[in-house]
Amino acid sequence: MILSLGSLNIDHVYRVKDISLPGETIAAIDYRVFSGGKGLNQALAAARAGAKVRHIGCIGPEGQWLKDLMADEMIEVSLLEVKDIATGHAIIQVSETGENSIIIFGGANRALETEKLEQGFASKTRPSFLLLQNETNLVPNAIELAVSHDIPVAFNPVPMDARVIKEYPLQDVSLLFVNEIEGALLADEEQPDEIVESILGRFPRLGLVLTLGSQGAIFARDRMRLKLPGNTVEVVDTTAAGDTFVGYFLAWLDQGHSPEEALATANRAAAFCVTQPGASPSIPRLADL
Ligand code: RIB
Repeated sequence: MILSLGSLNIDHVYRVKDISLPGETIAAIDYRVFSGGKGLNQALAAARAGAKVRHIGCIGPEGQWLKDLMADEMIEVSLLEVKDIATGHAIIQVSETGENSIIIFGGANRALETEKLEQGFASKTRPSFLLLQNETNLVPNAIELAVSHDIPVAFNPVPMDARVIKEYPLQDVSLLFVNEIEGALLADEEQPDEIVESILGRFPRLGLVLTLGSQGAIFARDRMRLKLPGNTVEVVDTTAAGDTFVGYFLAWLDQGHSPEEALATANRAAAFCVTQPGASPSIPRLADL
Protein backbone atom coordinates (compact mmCIF):
# COMPACT_ATOMS: atom_id res chain seq x y z
CA MET A 1 0.00 0.00 0.00
CA ILE A 2 1.21 3.50 -0.87
CA LEU A 3 0.37 6.29 1.56
CA SER A 4 0.04 9.46 -0.46
CA LEU A 5 -0.16 12.99 0.90
CA GLY A 6 -0.76 15.65 -1.71
CA SER A 7 -2.73 18.29 -3.52
CA LEU A 8 -6.03 18.08 -5.34
CA ASN A 9 -6.62 20.88 -7.84
CA ILE A 10 -9.28 22.00 -10.23
CA ASP A 11 -7.30 22.64 -13.42
CA HIS A 12 -8.43 25.50 -15.69
CA VAL A 13 -6.74 24.66 -18.97
CA TYR A 14 -6.36 27.24 -21.75
CA ARG A 15 -5.11 26.02 -25.11
CA VAL A 16 -3.03 28.79 -26.73
CA LYS A 17 -0.87 29.12 -29.81
CA ASP A 18 2.19 30.13 -27.78
CA ILE A 19 2.52 30.53 -24.02
CA SER A 20 2.12 34.21 -23.08
CA LEU A 21 5.17 36.35 -22.45
CA PRO A 22 5.45 38.97 -19.66
CA GLY A 23 3.27 42.01 -20.52
CA GLU A 24 1.45 40.18 -23.32
CA THR A 25 -2.33 39.64 -23.65
CA ILE A 26 -3.25 36.60 -25.72
CA ALA A 27 -6.52 34.93 -26.71
CA ALA A 28 -7.10 31.27 -25.83
CA ILE A 29 -8.25 28.88 -28.57
CA ASP A 30 -10.04 26.58 -26.13
CA TYR A 31 -10.86 26.34 -22.40
CA ARG A 32 -11.58 23.19 -20.38
CA VAL A 33 -11.74 22.17 -16.74
CA PHE A 34 -10.02 18.97 -15.60
CA SER A 35 -9.22 17.22 -12.33
CA GLY A 36 -5.58 17.66 -11.33
CA GLY A 37 -3.09 18.47 -8.64
CA LYS A 38 0.18 16.60 -8.37
CA GLY A 39 -1.10 14.67 -5.35
CA LEU A 40 -4.27 13.51 -7.06
CA ASN A 41 -2.47 12.77 -10.36
CA GLN A 42 0.29 10.70 -8.78
CA ALA A 43 -2.09 8.79 -6.50
CA LEU A 44 -4.31 8.07 -9.51
CA ALA A 45 -1.37 6.93 -11.62
CA ALA A 46 -0.26 4.54 -8.86
CA ALA A 47 -3.81 3.20 -8.49
CA ARG A 48 -4.19 2.76 -12.26
CA ALA A 49 -0.88 0.90 -12.24
CA GLY A 50 -2.39 -1.57 -9.79
CA ALA A 51 -1.23 -0.30 -6.39
CA LYS A 52 -3.42 0.11 -3.33
CA VAL A 53 -3.34 3.80 -2.40
CA ARG A 54 -4.48 5.73 0.67
CA HIS A 55 -4.61 9.49 0.17
CA ILE A 56 -4.42 12.33 2.69
CA GLY A 57 -5.52 15.73 1.40
CA CYS A 58 -7.89 18.63 1.80
CA ILE A 59 -10.44 20.26 -0.51
CA GLY A 60 -13.18 22.87 -0.30
CA PRO A 61 -16.89 22.07 -0.81
CA GLU A 62 -16.77 22.77 -4.56
CA GLY A 63 -14.01 20.16 -4.90
CA GLN A 64 -16.14 17.23 -3.72
CA TRP A 65 -16.07 15.80 -7.29
CA LEU A 66 -12.29 15.35 -6.97
CA LYS A 67 -12.76 13.21 -3.86
CA ASP A 68 -15.51 11.21 -5.61
CA LEU A 69 -13.24 10.67 -8.58
CA MET A 70 -10.46 9.27 -6.40
CA ALA A 71 -12.91 7.01 -4.55
CA ASP A 72 -14.23 5.73 -7.90
CA GLU A 73 -10.64 4.69 -8.72
CA MET A 74 -10.53 2.59 -5.50
CA ILE A 75 -8.26 5.07 -3.70
CA GLU A 76 -8.90 5.07 0.06
CA VAL A 77 -10.12 8.62 0.84
CA SER A 78 -11.32 8.50 4.46
CA LEU A 79 -8.51 10.93 5.42
CA LEU A 80 -9.38 13.38 2.65
CA GLU A 81 -11.00 16.33 4.43
CA VAL A 82 -13.57 18.78 3.10
CA LYS A 83 -13.15 22.19 4.74
CA ASP A 84 -14.77 25.57 4.24
CA ILE A 85 -11.80 26.84 2.24
CA ALA A 86 -11.47 27.21 -1.55
CA THR A 87 -10.23 24.05 -3.28
CA GLY A 88 -6.75 24.42 -4.75
CA HIS A 89 -6.69 25.27 -8.42
CA ALA A 90 -4.32 25.62 -11.33
CA ILE A 91 -4.29 27.97 -14.31
CA ILE A 92 -2.63 26.07 -17.15
CA GLN A 93 -1.65 27.27 -20.61
CA VAL A 94 -0.97 24.53 -23.15
CA SER A 95 0.74 25.57 -26.38
CA GLU A 96 0.34 24.12 -29.87
CA THR A 97 3.45 22.00 -29.26
CA GLY A 98 1.98 20.58 -26.03
CA GLU A 99 4.27 22.51 -23.67
CA ASN A 100 2.63 23.96 -20.58
CA SER A 101 2.94 26.78 -18.10
CA ILE A 102 1.23 26.31 -14.73
CA ILE A 103 0.29 28.62 -11.87
CA ILE A 104 -1.16 26.98 -8.77
CA PHE A 105 -3.20 28.46 -5.95
CA GLY A 106 -2.82 26.26 -2.85
CA GLY A 107 -6.16 26.98 -1.11
CA ALA A 108 -7.31 23.97 0.93
CA ASN A 109 -4.14 22.07 -0.03
CA ARG A 110 -2.29 24.22 2.49
CA ALA A 111 -4.72 23.56 5.34
CA LEU A 112 -3.71 19.98 6.16
CA GLU A 113 -3.61 19.13 9.86
CA THR A 114 -1.01 16.99 11.63
CA GLU A 115 -3.78 14.91 13.18
CA LYS A 116 -4.82 13.54 9.77
CA LEU A 117 -1.19 12.94 8.92
CA GLU A 118 -0.69 10.90 12.09
CA GLN A 119 -3.86 8.92 11.38
CA GLY A 120 -2.42 8.06 7.98
CA PHE A 121 0.37 6.11 9.68
CA ALA A 122 -1.98 4.44 12.14
CA SER A 123 -3.56 1.93 9.74
CA LYS A 124 -3.03 -1.79 10.19
CA THR A 125 -1.55 -2.13 6.71
CA ARG A 126 1.99 -0.82 6.71
CA PRO A 127 2.66 1.46 3.73
CA SER A 128 5.53 0.51 1.44
CA PHE A 129 6.16 4.23 0.75
CA LEU A 130 4.99 7.66 1.76
CA LEU A 131 4.55 9.63 -1.48
CA LEU A 132 4.90 13.45 -1.32
CA GLN A 133 5.11 16.45 -3.60
CA ASN A 134 5.52 20.11 -2.64
CA GLU A 135 2.02 21.56 -3.20
CA THR A 136 0.78 21.14 0.40
CA ASN A 137 1.82 22.24 3.86
CA LEU A 138 3.34 19.73 6.32
CA VAL A 139 5.87 18.21 3.88
CA PRO A 140 8.87 18.30 6.28
CA ASN A 141 6.64 17.03 9.13
CA ALA A 142 5.47 14.15 6.93
CA ILE A 143 9.06 13.18 6.09
CA GLU A 144 10.01 13.15 9.77
CA LEU A 145 6.93 11.16 10.75
CA ALA A 146 7.59 8.56 8.03
CA VAL A 147 11.18 8.19 9.20
CA SER A 148 10.01 7.70 12.79
CA HIS A 149 7.78 4.85 11.51
CA ASP A 150 10.61 3.47 9.39
CA ILE A 151 8.63 4.01 6.17
CA PRO A 152 10.60 5.03 3.06
CA VAL A 153 9.75 8.44 1.60
CA ALA A 154 9.31 9.06 -2.15
CA PHE A 155 9.45 12.79 -2.82
CA ASN A 156 8.78 14.84 -5.95
CA PRO A 157 9.83 18.34 -4.78
CA VAL A 158 7.63 20.36 -7.14
CA PRO A 159 6.97 23.27 -7.30
CA MET A 160 10.67 23.65 -6.73
CA ASP A 161 11.95 26.51 -4.63
CA ALA A 162 15.54 25.37 -4.26
CA ARG A 163 16.19 27.52 -1.17
CA VAL A 164 13.17 26.05 0.64
CA ILE A 165 13.73 22.48 -0.55
CA LYS A 166 17.36 22.53 0.56
CA GLU A 167 16.08 23.16 4.11
CA TYR A 168 13.95 19.98 4.00
CA PRO A 169 15.37 16.81 5.59
CA LEU A 170 16.36 15.36 2.19
CA GLN A 171 18.89 13.07 3.86
CA ASP A 172 15.85 11.12 5.11
CA VAL A 173 14.28 10.69 1.66
CA SER A 174 14.63 7.28 -0.01
CA LEU A 175 13.51 8.15 -3.55
CA LEU A 176 13.73 11.59 -5.13
CA PHE A 177 12.02 12.38 -8.47
CA VAL A 178 13.18 15.49 -10.35
CA ASN A 179 13.17 16.62 -13.95
CA GLU A 180 16.17 18.29 -15.58
CA ILE A 181 15.17 21.81 -14.51
CA GLU A 182 14.49 20.85 -10.90
CA GLY A 183 17.61 18.68 -10.77
CA ALA A 184 19.74 21.56 -12.08
CA LEU A 185 18.36 23.91 -9.40
CA LEU A 186 19.03 21.40 -6.67
CA ALA A 187 22.47 20.38 -7.89
CA ASP A 188 23.76 23.69 -9.32
CA GLU A 189 24.75 21.63 -12.38
CA GLU A 190 23.46 21.57 -15.97
CA GLN A 191 24.19 18.19 -17.52
CA PRO A 192 22.12 15.14 -16.50
CA ASP A 193 25.14 13.04 -15.47
CA GLU A 194 26.56 15.90 -13.42
CA ILE A 195 23.18 16.51 -11.78
CA VAL A 196 23.03 12.84 -10.77
CA GLU A 197 26.57 12.74 -9.35
CA SER A 198 26.15 16.02 -7.49
CA ILE A 199 22.87 15.03 -5.81
CA LEU A 200 24.07 11.51 -4.94
CA GLY A 201 27.36 12.97 -3.69
CA ARG A 202 25.36 15.00 -1.18
CA PHE A 203 22.77 12.32 -0.34
CA PRO A 204 24.54 8.96 -0.78
CA ARG A 205 21.62 6.84 0.50
CA LEU A 206 19.17 8.30 -2.02
CA GLY A 207 17.59 6.58 -5.02
CA LEU A 208 17.37 9.31 -7.66
CA VAL A 209 15.06 9.38 -10.67
CA LEU A 210 15.90 12.10 -13.16
CA THR A 211 13.24 12.43 -15.87
CA LEU A 212 14.39 13.96 -19.15
CA GLY A 213 11.12 14.40 -21.07
CA SER A 214 11.40 13.04 -24.60
CA GLN A 215 15.01 12.03 -23.80
CA GLY A 216 13.87 9.35 -21.34
CA ALA A 217 14.95 8.95 -17.72
CA ILE A 218 17.80 7.94 -15.41
CA PHE A 219 17.64 5.94 -12.19
CA ALA A 220 20.69 6.13 -9.95
CA ARG A 221 21.44 4.56 -6.59
CA ASP A 222 24.79 3.61 -5.06
CA ARG A 223 26.83 2.57 -8.11
CA MET A 224 23.81 1.65 -10.21
CA ARG A 225 23.11 3.93 -13.20
CA LEU A 226 20.15 2.95 -15.41
CA LYS A 227 19.42 5.06 -18.48
CA LEU A 228 16.42 4.66 -20.69
CA PRO A 229 15.78 6.55 -23.94
CA GLY A 230 12.42 8.29 -24.43
CA ASN A 231 9.60 7.08 -26.67
CA THR A 232 8.71 8.95 -29.84
CA VAL A 233 5.04 9.95 -29.71
CA GLU A 234 2.80 12.70 -31.02
CA VAL A 235 2.65 15.25 -28.21
CA VAL A 236 -0.75 16.79 -27.42
CA ASP A 237 -0.31 17.95 -23.82
CA THR A 238 2.63 17.28 -21.50
CA THR A 239 0.62 18.10 -18.33
CA ALA A 240 0.86 15.30 -15.73
CA ALA A 241 3.49 13.30 -17.65
CA GLY A 242 5.84 13.67 -14.67
CA ASP A 243 3.05 12.69 -12.28
CA THR A 244 2.23 9.62 -14.37
CA PHE A 245 5.89 8.63 -14.30
CA VAL A 246 6.13 8.97 -10.51
CA GLY A 247 2.89 7.07 -9.82
CA TYR A 248 3.75 4.20 -12.17
CA PHE A 249 7.35 3.92 -11.01
CA LEU A 250 6.35 3.71 -7.36
CA ALA A 251 3.45 1.34 -8.00
CA TRP A 252 5.83 -0.97 -9.86
CA LEU A 253 8.33 -1.01 -6.96
CA ASP A 254 5.43 -1.50 -4.53
CA GLN A 255 4.41 -4.60 -6.51
CA GLY A 256 7.90 -6.07 -6.23
CA HIS A 257 9.39 -5.16 -9.63
CA SER A 258 13.00 -4.10 -10.11
CA PRO A 259 13.97 -0.42 -10.65
CA GLU A 260 14.80 -1.35 -14.25
CA GLU A 261 11.28 -2.68 -14.87
CA ALA A 262 9.76 0.27 -13.00
CA LEU A 263 11.71 2.71 -15.16
CA ALA A 264 10.62 1.06 -18.40
CA THR A 265 6.93 0.92 -17.45
CA ALA A 266 6.88 4.48 -16.06
CA ASN A 267 8.54 5.70 -19.24
CA ARG A 268 5.86 4.06 -21.38
CA ALA A 269 3.06 5.39 -19.18
CA ALA A 270 4.41 8.96 -19.36
CA ALA A 271 4.71 8.67 -23.15
CA PHE A 272 1.04 7.65 -23.34
CA CYS A 273 0.03 10.54 -21.07
CA VAL A 274 1.45 13.23 -23.38
CA THR A 275 -0.69 11.98 -26.29
CA GLN A 276 -3.89 12.92 -24.40
CA PRO A 277 -5.27 16.29 -23.22
CA GLY A 278 -5.65 17.26 -19.55
CA ALA A 279 -3.97 16.17 -16.32
CA SER A 280 -5.55 13.19 -14.58
CA PRO A 281 -7.80 12.18 -17.53
CA SER A 282 -4.62 11.57 -19.55
CA ILE A 283 -3.14 9.06 -17.09
CA PRO A 284 -3.20 5.59 -18.68
CA ARG A 285 -4.68 2.43 -17.27
CA LEU A 286 -2.63 -0.74 -17.55
CA ALA A 287 -4.71 -1.83 -20.53
CA ASP A 288 -3.67 1.35 -22.41
CA LEU A 289 -0.03 0.29 -22.22
O1 RIB B 1 1.67 18.17 -12.77
C1 RIB B 1 0.51 18.68 -13.31
C2 RIB B 1 -0.31 19.31 -12.22
O2 RIB B 1 0.38 20.42 -11.68
C3 RIB B 1 -1.64 19.86 -12.67
O3 RIB B 1 -2.68 18.93 -12.61
C4 RIB B 1 -1.84 21.06 -11.77
O4 RIB B 1 -2.95 20.99 -10.93
C5 RIB B 1 -0.55 21.21 -10.98
O5 RIB B 1 -0.65 20.69 -9.72
